[in-house]
Amino acid sequence: MRLTVIGTGYLGAVHAACMADSGHEVLGVDVDARKIARLAQGRAPFFEPGLQEMLTRNVESGRLRFTTSLREAAEFGQVHFVCVGTPQKENSQAADLRFVDAVVEGLAPYLRGPSLIVGKSTVPAGTTARLTVRVDALAPEGVDVEVAWNPEFLREGHAVEDTLRPDRIVAGVSSSRADAVLRDVYAPMLRAGVPYISTTPATAELVKVAANSFLATKISFINAMAEVCDAAGADVVTLAEALGHDTRIGRRFLAAGLGFGGGCLPKDIRAFMARAGELGVGDSVAFLHQVDQINGRQRHRTVDIARDMAGGDFTGRRIGVLGATFKPDSDDVRDSPALAVAAAIHRQGATVRLYDPQGIENARSVMPQLEYVHDATKACEGADLVLHLTEWPEFRRLDPAVLAASAAVPKILDARNTLDAALWRSAGWTVRALGRPTPPALPNQQAAAPVASAYSSDLG
Ligand code: UGA
Repeated sequence: MRLTVIGTGYLGAVHAACMADSGHEVLGVDVDARKIARLAQGRAPFFEPGLQEMLTRNVESGRLRFTTSLREAAEFGQVHFVCVGTPQKENSQAADLRFVDAVVEGLAPYLRGPSLIVGKSTVPAGTTARLTVRVDALAPEGVDVEVAWNPEFLREGHAVEDTLRPDRIVAGVSSSRADAVLRDVYAPMLRAGVPYISTTPATAELVKVAANSFLATKISFINAMAEVCDAAGADVVTLAEALGHDTRIGRRFLAAGLGFGGGCLPKDIRAFMARAGELGVGDSVAFLHQVDQINGRQRHRTVDIARDMAGGDFTGRRIGVLGATFKPDSDDVRDSPALAVAAAIHRQGATVRLYDPQGIENARSVMPQLEYVHDATKACEGADLVLHLTEWPEFRRLDPAVLAASAAVPKILDARNTLDAALWRSAGWTVRALGRPTPPALPNQQAAAPVASAYSSDLG
């Protein structure tokens, strides 16, 4: 099939490459001419495992091309995927839909034959219905255009895998024709047994925000338990493991620590609250406010524990930071908890030396005031305290004995609960974590002193 993918950010670039790889002719579209030029050379605009190879392969084969022209897109194909961003509005919690609107309004007048516009961006319930009215007004007389919604559930760091082998495909359609087109687009996946759920556009829009809200709630639930564990001298990692054996609960997304960030979960739960309020059911999702607050609190807790470990004051302290991205296997620093903590500590007088395997360039562009180094050992050299803020696998492979020799004071705060605390302690490190006793839970052992309850307010 001939498909266009409009918006070549995280979602669109991966979707375009994967659609070409599964045999379609694909035209990627973006307003950013520099990004399009880069993509046209087969160069990935961000770090995502597997994407670079896939882009090169499909650009070389000619199945994947790029343009900045919506007119060319309208002429190229009859199925148009909308993958542009829906960030949080500047002065409210609601989603900013101006990019989605601009694409649909820019494309509709050029459509010549029966066309399907398929939204993939995360949008508030009711968006498809609203856009349908716009398209009906803007498409040329007699041209049959339908708007459908087909949300994307990919995770950064696993985007290629998630797009090629999704857990499910959700098609929000208003006609059997649109349903048939989407089944054709995804035919290879359907043959491989991926569940396909055909429903109304409003349900499809809601599935996406409900899924992200559930995931955010699960993370904040375990982080709330971590706070209770700190107060009770219990261990949240063991608690999560024990909970996770109950298959109704499951172990995934119960990793307690610094909490969630990124370009999706934080803004999506806020947009959901805003939309629910407009629909008159704000109370139904009021719990998401708590989810958001618990999440923000983990950043403050981390700063407070770090300050405590640094002797009660950051002034003049050298802090080594491991991790800047909002999660491993990504170079994305949008709303990154790691970077927020590093910046707060810097504002409170510390010298921060940061290392991240992929995120340094992006981190430097938003936080130029921090010092960046190109390996973990350098970040720890001469440090009075080391903070482990993003759980990159390479940090688990560090040799704590080597680092202990170069740190000024061998103290580490593991804010992601993924380091082998016993190993680090045996190499001479003082280790603290979120929701875990210090030293580790042994029968009859005392809990660590509780962390100051007045949370730091110096966090961006
Ligand atoms: C999230 C969803 O997981 C995807 O399904 C969805 O498609 C995507 O948003 C989106 O809406 O586009 P993503 O933002 O890539 O994906 O990242 P996640 O893997 O969900 O992680 C989000 C944050 O939660 C990260 O900061 C991560 O460190 C944190 N997290 C995750 C925890 O703190 N604990 C956990 O147990 C899991």
